[in-house]
Amino acid sequence: MENKTILITGTTTGTGFVAAQTVAELGAKLIMLNRPSERSKTAQSKIIEKSPKKEVYTIDCDLQSFSSVRKAIEKIIEKCPEGIDVICNNAGVMALTDIATEDGFDIQMQTNHLSHFLLVCDLFKLLEKTAEEKGESRIVNHSSVARLTVKKLRKEYLEKNGGNLGGNGKSMIFGGARWKRYGQTKLANAAFTAALHEKLMKKGSKIKALVAHPGLSNTQLQVTTIKDGGMAKKMTRFMMKRSQSEEDGSIGILSCICLPEAKSGQFWGPGKGMMAMKGKAKPFKLENSYNNFKTITLLWEKSCEAIGKEFII
Ligand SMILES: NC(=O)c1ccc[n+]([C@@H]2O[C@H](COP(=O)([O-])OP(=O)(O)OC[C@H]3O[C@@H](n4cnc5c(N)ncnc54)[C@H](OP(=O)(O)O)[C@@H]3O)[C@@H](O)[C@H]2O)c1
Repeated sequence: MENKTILITGTTTGTGFVAAQTVAELGAKLIMLNRPSERSKTAQSKIIEKSPKKEVYTIDCDLQSFSSVRKAIEKIIEKCPEGIDVICNNAGVMALTDIATEDGFDIQMQTNHLSHFLLVCDLFKLLEKTAEEKGESRIVNHSSVARLTVKKLRKEYLEKNGGNLGGNGKSMIFGGARWKRYGQTKLANAAFTAALHEKLMKKGSKIKALVAHPGLSNTQLQVTTIKDGGMAKKMTRFMMKRSQSEEDGSIGILSCICLPEAKSGQFWGPGKGMMAMKGKAKPFKLENSYNNFKTITLLWEKSCEAIGKEFII
C-alpha cells in the first residue's frame, strides 16, 4: 500500500476501522472521513500510533449532511493533490427510525448511498489522475446480504421522502419498514457499483469499481440499531453468536482495496454463496437483480437529482 492515497468513510469502529488500520500499517497515506466524535479521535490516535509513515488524517464528514460532505471534499482536494488511489465507501447505518436528514432524504439512504455518490462524483478527477499516472485507481462500495431482501430498487427511497417511507416497523422477517429502507440502501450500493463498472468500461477507463459484503460481522452496527429501537437485544445476542469477527468481516473490502488481482465488476463476499454469513472472502459476479439497464439508469438519474448535478463519466 506504499505510495497509495486511500480514503475510507466510517472508520471509528467495525470493518472501516480494521480496513483503515490495515492499510495504514501497510504504508498507505490514509484519509479517514468521519463525523466528529470521541470515537473518531480515538481511531485517529490508535491508527497513527501503528502506522510507519504517520500519514494518517481525519477529515470531518457527516454523511447525513450534503453541506458537511461538500466541506470535506474541499479539504480532500487540498490534501491530495497527488490524486486518489482508492475511495472506500464503507460507512453505514441500519434499520433506523423513519426520519429525514436536513436535506430531506431518508437518513439511511443519504448516509449509506447518496453522500457516497456525491463524494465519488466530486473526487472523480483525482481518481482519474491516479488511474492515468499509475494504471489504476478504485472505487469500493460496501453492501450487504440485505440487498436481496428487497425485490427491486424503488425511486421513492432515493427522493426527498425522508420521514414518509413506511414508519418504524422493525420486523426483519415480516418486512418491517426500517428493514425495507435498509435493504433499498444496500441494493443501491450494489447498483451503484454495477452502474460505475458499466460506464467505466464503456469509457475505457482504468478506474475499477468493486463491491463487497461482510456477511454477519460482529461490529457496532447492530448495537446502534438496538439503541434506536430497531432490534431486540436478546434476539440480536442470539443471532450474533453466528457472526464472524469484524476482522474477518473486513476482508471483503480489504480484498477490493488491496489485492492486485481484484477486478472491476467483482462482488467480494464470504463463504460458499452470495448469501453466506461467514467464511473466507472470494469474488462473485454482480447479480441480475440490479445489474440491469432499468435499475442502473434509475439509480444514476435519481442520485444525480439528489445531489443537484450531473455526474458524467
Ligand atoms: N456488521 C454486519 O454484520 C454488516 C452486514 C452487512 C453489511 N454491513 C455494512 O458494513 C459497513 C460497515 O458497518 P460496520 O458493520 O462496520 O458497523 P459500525 O461498526 O457501526 O461502523 C459504521 C461506521 O459508519 C459510521 N457512520 C455512521 N453514520 C455516519 C455518518 N452520518 N457520517 C459518517 N460516518 C457515519 C460510523 O461512525 P460513528 O461512530 O460516527 O457512528 C462507523 O464508523 C456498513 O455499510 C454496513 O451496512 C455490515
